[in-house]
Amino acid sequence: MFKCALVLAGGKGKRMKSDLPKVIHKVCGKEMVNYVIDLMRNSDIQDVNVIIGKGAEQLKEATATRNVSYSLQAEQFGTGHAVICAKDYLQGKDGVVIILNGDAPLMVKETIDKCIKFHQEGKFKATLITSRLEDPSGYGRIVRDASGCVEKIVEHKDCSKEELKITEINSGMYCFDIKALLDGIDKLNNTNAQGEYYLTDMVQILKDSGKNVGAIAVEFQETLGVNSRVQLANVEHIMRQRINKRHMENGVTIIDPNATYIGDDVEIERDTIIYPGNFIEGKTIIKEGCILYPNSRISDTIINERVTIQSSVILESSIGRDTTVGPFAYIRPESNIGKEVKIGDFVEIKKSTIGNKTKVAHLTYIGDAEVGEGCNFGCGTVVVNYDGKTKHKTIIGNNSFIGCNTNLVSPVEVEDNTYIAAGSTITEKVKEGSLAIARAKQVNKEGWVSKNRIK
Ligand code: UD1
Ligand code: CA
Repeated sequence: MFKCALVLAGGKGKRMKSDLPKVIHKVCGKEMVNYVIDLMRNSDIQDVNVIIGKGAEQLKEATATRNVSYSLQAEQFGTGHAVICAKDYLQGKDGVVIILNGDAPLMVKETIDKCIKFHQEGKFKATLITSRLEDPSGYGRIVRDASGCVEKIVEHKDCSKEELKITEINSGMYCFDIKALLDGIDKLNNTNAQGEYYLTDMVQILKDSGKNVGAIAVEFQETLGVNSRVQLANVEHIMRQRINKRHMENGVTIIDPNATYIGDDVEIERDTIIYPGNFIEGKTIIKEGCILYPNSRISDTIINERVTIQSSVILESSIGRDTTVGPFAYIRPESNIGKEVKIGDFVEIKKSTIGNKTKVAHLTYIGDAEVGEGCNFGCGTVVVNYDGKTKHKTIIGNNSFIGCNTNLVSPVEVEDNTYIAAGSTITEKVKEGSLAIARAKQVNKEGWVSKNRIK
């Protein structure tokens, strides 16, 4: 059966007090709306349409990689109106449409699958995903008749005294038969406490025309929505626990899951150990047996087997197996660090390749360079890659020894098996097998101090 999804993301999100549309605020590094879209993809939903309004352009940009279509709700007159704006999208389709809020990122695939099955087996025209709450205030209430069948949803602000006591709430997530939804949607009106077109009124419209509506109660936490920054932090906390648990169950040691921040798309292999204070973001992949000592930020990077990292920042790069990084290293985008390399303290690498077994132990900057294997960088080496106008490239061959406090003025090449004397400023090619010395010769002036000493 054809299945598609509508993601409601047009709302203003006033309580966020933000210039961004609410649904692109991030939870564990990923936009809320993208959790919802990814969930649909993982749940075998063939097609996703996102209803956009406030910040439409920003929203499109944030979801650009997700291959979804959009319906525009230029002004927001309620959730029912949002779906009316997607009529063109739904027209001519036959099957089931899942409707979800873009601000509820905690829903899981198992629950969606269960609801679709329930919807199909019950032959319902609509199925509501509901939840039971001790304090249901703010939510739409599920009103059932004497036989337990769903009768209608009443929004909190429209509830009678009796209805306010109902503890079964509407999660804002639904399955609809597309045809039944399209047949009824024009009957919505806005004669209610908020003067809005409520999607929830579809229940009564379907019931009035003799159609069956089902409801399935799920874990409340999965339906949690975000309306404010406080709720955003709460959802972030739950998501973080969930992500960390998943990694621990896969064989990763996380010493303190309350202080370890791993993005939803990160992959980590077994027997890696993660100390507190690490932020691991984007599409980072960490292979087996790594040790992440405290306080690093690693973003969109591939870390190979048995790498050790401490208190460092690594962005959009790759690190070869058995390499150590840090403490206090900064590896900037497009760097490719080889195997068994040492990148030590206060070393910055930018857009460079570092060959296997090379050691860059301390206080060094390497930018726009190709460095071979088995080299040794003395303390305080600087690749002078910028002349004030453009960036230039430096090439260093295999097994080169770069003495302490060397400047390599780019563009420049240092061939294989070379030595550079400490304190040299290298501006010309160093030929294979040679020693380069590029510094003023030392002059000792005997007796100078006593002659010139000012008493
Ligand atoms: C809605 C439900 C309520 C349910 C609650 C669960 C209605 C009338 N009420 O209420 O029964 O208990 O969710 O959280 O549906 N949106 C649009 N366009 C609009 C209005 C909203 O796209 O014109 C989007 C918002 O971006 C949001 C979602 O729809 O993602 C829900 O809107 P919101 O205003 O938060 O609905 P609630 O009042 O919370
Ligand atoms: Ca809401």
